[in-house]
Amino acid sequence: MITKVSLRSLCLVTLVVVAGWTAVAFSQSGSGSSRVDAPRATRPPTPEEFHSSFWNHIVKQGAAYNTWKVLAREKIEDGIENPHSAVSQTFANKVAADDPKNLPIGSILVREDYNDQRKRLSISVMYRVKAYDKDHGNWYWIKYLENGTVTRGKDNKVVAGKVTSCSNCHGKAQGKDFVFSNDTLQGEQKTKPDDKPSDTKAPPKE
Ligand code: HEC
Repeated sequence: MITKVSLRSLCLVTLVVVAGWTAVAFSQSGSGSSRVDAPRATRPPTPEEFHSSFWNHIVKQGAAYNTWKVLAREKIEDGIENPHSAVSQTFANKVAADDPKNLPIGSILVREDYNDQRKRLSISVMYRVKAYDKDHGNWYWIKYLENGTVTRGKDNKVVAGKVTSCSNCHGKAQGKDFVFSNDTLQGEQKTKPDDKPSDTKAPPKE
């Protein structure tokens, strides 16, 4: 499934990229160039273009998200509902996997969503972007269907960007970084100094 979709999106994105390069080449090919489409190469992508190139990135052939490291969340009984289902896993790109506690800018976390019959329904993604949304951990949220289209909420708006339904619930994560999977790591970090055996805190020998 991933391969089929990835191939298709790869072609699409290749086309877009080639078109972009062509436009850049044209725009730089001399001061006499009067092609009207040249400036398009430098404009930022539209949301739709970003959704599809980002999808292409996470399902890239040979480096698709399901080849990334799994960020395992040890069971925490925090009573927070997990809408992604218990059988699903969280995959972390290299930036995230190298520093799961801090999840630096550029981190991508992918969570597959399954139903009760263990059928994968959608794919929820968080992408940490510099100065994107500082009140919500600078996370960009997006939820894709299997074929790479972005899901739509009840209001028919695409579930992408600063999605409050995602950030409202993720705001309950212990580390205050809107991520649950690294809560245990952050907890460990906090308690570490106290765990160190020291003369004054050594338990009495009986
Ligand atoms: C009702 C609460 C809730 C909502 C709403 C929610 N999530 Fe989550 N999400 C969770 C919980 C709980 C986990 C951790 C599950 C686990 O590993 O046990 C999680 C995990 C994740 C992860 C893995 C990183 C992490 O925090 O552990 C991603 C990525 C993710 N969710 C994306 C999304 C996106 C995108 C949306 C919105 C479309 C969303 N979530 C909406 C509760 C929620």
